[in-house]
Amino acid sequence: MPAVVLIGSQWGDEGKGKITDYLAEKADVVVRYQGGNNAGHTVVVDNQEFKLHLIPSGILYPGSTCIIGNGVVIDPQVLVEELEYLEKRGICTDSLKLSLRAHLIMPYHIRLDELEEERKGVNKIGTTRRGIGPAYMDKAARIGIRLVDLLDEEEFAERLKRNLDEKNNLFNKIYETEGFEFTEIFERYRGYLPKMRKYITDTSVIIHQFLSEKKNVLFEGAQGTLLDMDHGTYPYVTSSHPVAGAACIGAGVGPSEINKTIGVVKSYTTRVGEGPFPTELLDEQGDFIRRQGHEFGTTTGRPRRCGWLDVVILRYAARINGLNSIAITKLDVLDNIERIKICTAYDYRGEVLTEFPASLKVLAECKPIYEEFEGWMADTTTARCYEDLPPKAKMYLERISGLIKVPASIIAVGPKREQTIIREAIFTR
Ligand code: IMP
Repeated sequence: MPAVVLIGSQWGDEGKGKITDYLAEKADVVVRYQGGNNAGHTVVVDNQEFKLHLIPSGILYPGSTCIIGNGVVIDPQVLVEELEYLEKRGICTDSLKLSLRAHLIMPYHIRLDELEEERKGVNKIGTTRRGIGPAYMDKAARIGIRLVDLLDEEEFAERLKRNLDEKNNLFNKIYETEGFEFTEIFERYRGYLPKMRKYITDTSVIIHQFLSEKKNVLFEGAQGTLLDMDHGTYPYVTSSHPVAGAACIGAGVGPSEINKTIGVVKSYTTRVGEGPFPTELLDEQGDFIRRQGHEFGTTTGRPRRCGWLDVVILRYAARINGLNSIAITKLDVLDNIERIKICTAYDYRGEVLTEFPASLKVLAECKPIYEEFEGWMADTTTARCYEDLPPKAKMYLERISGLIKVPASIIAVGPKREQTIIREAIFTR
């Protein structure tokens, strides 16, 4: 099964980092294809915790090549800091490759992200304020600056000047604030090059080489299906495509190359930022899940909103991403809950909805219809195979798979690598 796409099935933060990290052990190459340093994952290796935002966690394995594809937006300052952080902790970063076609996050993107959020007030998106949206806006407006442009001093200077003319106008006249100075940005960004140059290449060529040799290729999605610009809870979404189909565009491969799509599903639901969330728990139960699950953002530290598992969302994610398999994470967080609920449909003004609605107004009025389960009230963190799990936990898992008609190939019962139950080998070597 050489080419596998791994995506988030909910609103992000499903624990993809841990699953990627597990699969990376047998992957020859791990590819990120969208988003930027708005993502964040914590991986525990040999009792050491690593927090990464941009570089795929495959970097922690000496044998795997790590690629940041053309669909990713790169903040070079964050990249350089992450490289230094990894090197300081004894991790070799030589296997990293950065796409020539990836766009850069510029300082004015970060400022625009902040200013726009402030301007929107109560209607704010709740972005990570990392400049992601404005960087993708410039890409679509065909004025973005790519790594290939940064390599060419003249080209970079020209593009930067043109952008600053336009952006500084905006800062001065619309936002009534100071703009940016050409020389400062020019020198700072060219100054990142000595650290980055050796990694920059045509990554699609490398991925194709791996694919033609039938090597194991893992495409690692960031964020989640409901943050997708087309399929998510628009406008409360990110500015890229976290769905599986985007792996092709953001890495430069054709759909016929992909063999399997795995959706990561957290055993309950969380969301950061604004927007409707039908199964949200605004009570003590929600606080309990937040505490047990350490549901605070890796990137921003914000407390995540918590709620019961929503199968309407998962059925939608299964369809949009063409899921062949799911990886269920954080089962252990539910170990001490007496009664657990799964939302199977929504009640919208007396009508039963089984499909995820496009209208946020409708979604905001949806009341979850729940199925209730007796909790297993037992420790699952030491389970190492499916048979080790309490019968009631197995019932919960089987009900999830049954409801969305997708088998669970991986179950995670804690943050460590060994706390992973494998029901179907994804990569073989
Ligand atoms: P942006 O990606 O910073 O523009 O933020 C847009 C929306 O996506 C906000 O609701 C963010 O909280 C959310 N978001 C972005 N990245 C992540 C992530 O990695 N996990 C969860 N939510 C995210």
